[in-house]
Amino acid sequence: MEPIYEGKAKKLFTTDDPEVLRMEYKDDATAFNAQKKAKFENKGRLNKAITLLMYQMMEEKGVPTHLVSDVDEVNLLVKKVDILMVEVIVRNSAAGSFCKRTAMEEGTEFKIPIVEFSYKSDELGDPLINEDYAREMNIASPEDCAFLKKQALVINDVMSAFFLQCGLKLVDFKIEFGKDCNGKIVLADEVSPDTCRLWDATTGKKMDKDRFREDLGGVMEGYEEVLARLEKARG
Ligand code: TMP
Repeated sequence: MEPIYEGKAKKLFTTDDPEVLRMEYKDDATAFNAQKKAKFENKGRLNKAITLLMYQMMEEKGVPTHLVSDVDEVNLLVKKVDILMVEVIVRNSAAGSFCKRTAMEEGTEFKIPIVEFSYKSDELGDPLINEDYAREMNIASPEDCAFLKKQALVINDVMSAFFLQCGLKLVDFKIEFGKDCNGKIVLADEVSPDTCRLWDATTGKKMDKDRFREDLGGVMEGYEEVLARLEKARG
């Protein structure tokens, strides 16, 4: 079957149910807007397993997601949603593009988490935008933006607490949301070491895609360790 959509790390397929899609997690990795590319054996399997576990944990905490069910090693069934073209980034400490933009030292903890919006456009390199841009670009209303910010902070609280239980510090993350057929906004896409910066809470060791971005080596070992810790915490 041909995918109806292929992104950098996932493919989407239709199913017999028009309201449900199959999401396949690929082994491909990109960074810096696909200027850097690689393939890591098992990445699809690890990111699918981590996303599934995180979505199940969040659903239990009252955070709605587009998850329908598990399929196999690299596939999930998800509700068909219209993905909002606004990506939401939450930062608990300085890292990545925040450090580049401000020259603040990596790891500096913020008093209050920072929420950012970016325009989901590979062509433009996901540029930073704000609520006023989103309104004028007709990609999210002021009400949508207010909900996204509030929900992203709830998700940050839920995920930070769970990762800490696993001995991991959630430095920052990017999430995407979609509108379901009833107009309800739910968490969509993925939650994995591709989209979250995770540091060992004791040693500060990076366990996420920064190992690839910064050529630190042991990329999949980091992801394996994250999954093992999450599985242990879930029992
Ligand atoms: P940044 O510091 O590069 O802006 O990244 C912030 C967070 O968002 C980090 O956890 C990695 C994640 N992220 C994505 O998931 N996709 C992207 O395209 C980018 C640029 C970042």
